[in-house]
Amino acid sequence: MLHVPVLLEESLDFLLNDLSGTYLDLTFGRGSHSQEILNRLSSSGKLCAVDRDVEAITYGQLNIHDERFSIVHGNYSEVKTLFYGQKFHGVLLDLGTCSTHLDNHSRGFSFQGDGPLDMRMDTTKGFSAADFLNKSSEKEISDVIYKYGDEKASRKIAKAIIEFRSSRLLKSTGDLVKIVESILQRTGRTHPATKTFQGIRIHVNNELEHLELALAQLSELLTENGVIVIISFHSLEDRIVKNFFKPDVQFLPKDIPINNIVTQEFKCIKKKLKPSAEEIKRNPRSRSAVMRVFSKA
Ligand SMILES: C[S@@+](CC[C@H](N)C(=O)[O-])C[C@H]1O[C@@H](n2cnc3c(N)ncnc32)[C@H](O)[C@@H]1O
Repeated sequence: MLHVPVLLEESLDFLLNDLSGTYLDLTFGRGSHSQEILNRLSSSGKLCAVDRDVEAITYGQLNIHDERFSIVHGNYSEVKTLFYGQKFHGVLLDLGTCSTHLDNHSRGFSFQGDGPLDMRMDTTKGFSAADFLNKSSEKEISDVIYKYGDEKASRKIAKAIIEFRSSRLLKSTGDLVKIVESILQRTGRTHPATKTFQGIRIHVNNELEHLELALAQLSELLTENGVIVIISFHSLEDRIVKNFFKPDVQFLPKDIPINNIVTQEFKCIKKKLKPSAEEIKRNPRSRSAVMRVFSKA
């Protein structure tokens, strides 16, 4: 199944402030946002795209044939190095994983269907979920599942992982699913392993730290009034975004209303936009999305 983009129209209505401008899509995925940006830009507009997943890059190279478009394999935590000295009219961050990650069981992101326990978005580096679960201490595993997955049964799950390891190493997503199912019953429609998989995925990909690093570099890459659009999919990401752009109240002149002022460098353009009921019905994955928009002051 192809990735269905979230908040496509809304994000681009904010992002594209100059149709002849140069834009940066830091999370290319399967390029639905990128393709629509190109549809809207004039012939002199430009779009650079980035993804840490090699499959996304190959997809972009094979499917987007447009002189205004370029794509590079990399991590947005290194965005300043990737685009040293360049300026953009807008930057898009559509965070998290693609449906294509979940649908391809050989990537190890999904608790539905068996596959190697990998979960890396960038398979060219780093450690897999299996490496983490087979080598870390019970406390480290429990902390990750609790902190990034918000899983209350994290301690029991970590203990069961260590017990499993005493007879053989974890290799597949099925191994992890069975362990979680030995601790938690399914309640409602949510799979009992949902939170555990989320926590481990965030840790393996170091998602939160990379987001913080990327945000800290964007100001230098933006033109004056350049726009940042960020779509988050869980509260940990959204909290980082909110806190990064929080007004530094102590430095604000008293007569300026806090509402529209963010940091010294950024202005809040749109506080918190959620998908419409119609979009959520069409694409249930969009239900947890939150979009925020800022511009360089
Ligand atoms: C939600 S998808 C983006 C979907 C895309 N907007 C589309 O229309 O198809 C997120 C993408 O960001 C990529 N990604 C996640 N973290 C990244 C990082 N630190 N650096 C670069 N790409 C990253 C993932 O590999 C994934 O392809």
